[in-house]
Amino acid sequence: MAGTGVFADILDGEVYKYYADGEWRASGSGKSVAIVNPTTRQTQYRVQACTQEEVNKVMEGAKVAQKAWARTPLWKRAELLHKAAAILKEHKAPIAECLVKEIAKPAKDAVTEVVRSGDLVSYTAEEGVRILGEGKLLVSDSFPGNERNKYCLSSKVPLGIVLAIPPFNYPVNLAVSKIGPALIAGNALVLKPPTQGAVAALHMVHCFHLAGFPKGLISCVTGKGSEIGDFLTMHPGVNCISFTGGDTGIAISKKAGMVPLQMELGGKDACIVLEDADLDLVAANIVKGGFSYSGQRCTAVKVVLIMETVADTVVEKVNAKLAKLKVGPPEDNCDITPVVTESSANFIEGLVMDAKEKGATFCQEYRREGNLIWPLLLDHVRPDMRIAWEEPFGPVLPVIRINSVEEGIHHCNASNFGLQGCVFTRDINKAIMISDAMESGTVQINSAPARGPDHFPFQGLKDSGIGSQGITNSINMMTKVKSTVINLPSPSYTMG
Ligand code: G3P
Repeated sequence: MAGTGVFADILDGEVYKYYADGEWRASGSGKSVAIVNPTTRQTQYRVQACTQEEVNKVMEGAKVAQKAWARTPLWKRAELLHKAAAILKEHKAPIAECLVKEIAKPAKDAVTEVVRSGDLVSYTAEEGVRILGEGKLLVSDSFPGNERNKYCLSSKVPLGIVLAIPPFNYPVNLAVSKIGPALIAGNALVLKPPTQGAVAALHMVHCFHLAGFPKGLISCVTGKGSEIGDFLTMHPGVNCISFTGGDTGIAISKKAGMVPLQMELGGKDACIVLEDADLDLVAANIVKGGFSYSGQRCTAVKVVLIMETVADTVVEKVNAKLAKLKVGPPEDNCDITPVVTESSANFIEGLVMDAKEKGATFCQEYRREGNLIWPLLLDHVRPDMRIAWEEPFGPVLPVIRINSVEEGIHHCNASNFGLQGCVFTRDINKAIMISDAMESGTVQINSAPARGPDHFPFQGLKDSGIGSQGITNSINMMTKVKSTVINLPSPSYTMG
């Protein structure tokens, strides 16, 4: 159970502690932040409201710890990550319980998130020893005017302190996708979890603590964005920021100093359906892609652009599947669970009402109870409706009927976002042409968008973000190249 057994240390009465200098602490602020359960809409947990002074202490400790960690052999860093991965998987049940209570993730998916996270950490350890174990040797005589008298040795070195800010929808998985690469590359890591999801993240951090990482190397500060948000992202001690979330990321990128940034800020992933597609496959992927975790995924299908000739058939198939979805609490493993906050539900409702006023066809009756919104397909959506462009992050999906592929590509590319997209057709040549034309970081052919498997590159264009994630890309991003040049007194030619 959460906060008990090996996790008893992380709880101080009713408030979860924050993690600094290798120990669990109560904030000197004496204040806490409430975490509201999306299902009951009652306070479920409380976390510390850390102060700016505490953030300063964390940064000081991280700086010292990082110096020693960078001198720790790579295989030892990998060994500790493997240990943390095993502990994380061993304690999947209490962590999953937090995900159910804090973010209303269906119970089965919550367990999957923790297991996937353990696998991600292990894979990162393995990938790290391979790619960081290799460097480059360059010789000077390939550049005009030079003899072979300079040998350049380059390798990858850590950046220093990485600040990780994951979102509410994967507070464990999108935290470890930053923590693992940062640590294997020799960095220290400061985690600022989302408020909803913070308790799951604290449990996850405790698994790293139990694995025996040096004190100060990993820290986790919780609290109000208004108090420590900007303070963290603009802190002079931070050498790299990896953020996943909404358009706060745009503000962060404007304020952050001269540090590498990795940002993933959402999407309006288009699903383009051609006439020759396998329509059962299309319907299954629209439902899975649009409605898993109630549409609260950056990579969810967020607009269907379908050829008019097959639209009726697909809409009918999708409606039949939606009717079978189980709607209710996450504890019962329902397919559709309450969205994360009341304000999210209100935002979604605003988009739905705008579409209603402007004449969209409601394939189901709009129904909401508290934060719970029943799945809704909106047909005959037009570009003048907000839902054609905005990201609901909820279980409502617009369908725009098109008469040509060009029309679909035009709509997709007119979006501010460019995370992922998908195209359904049996014609591979067309699929490749359409993929090339779509301005999105990834295009899936004949499947719904998805970030995983977690070693695949993951990146967004335009307002969807900067930098590329995925295990290898994140490790590389969290390092810089260091060169040493050996200057010989006279040119030396191998076997000359
Ligand atoms: O930030 C990406 C996340 O929202 C989606 O991840 O694994 O559901 O495709 P996934």
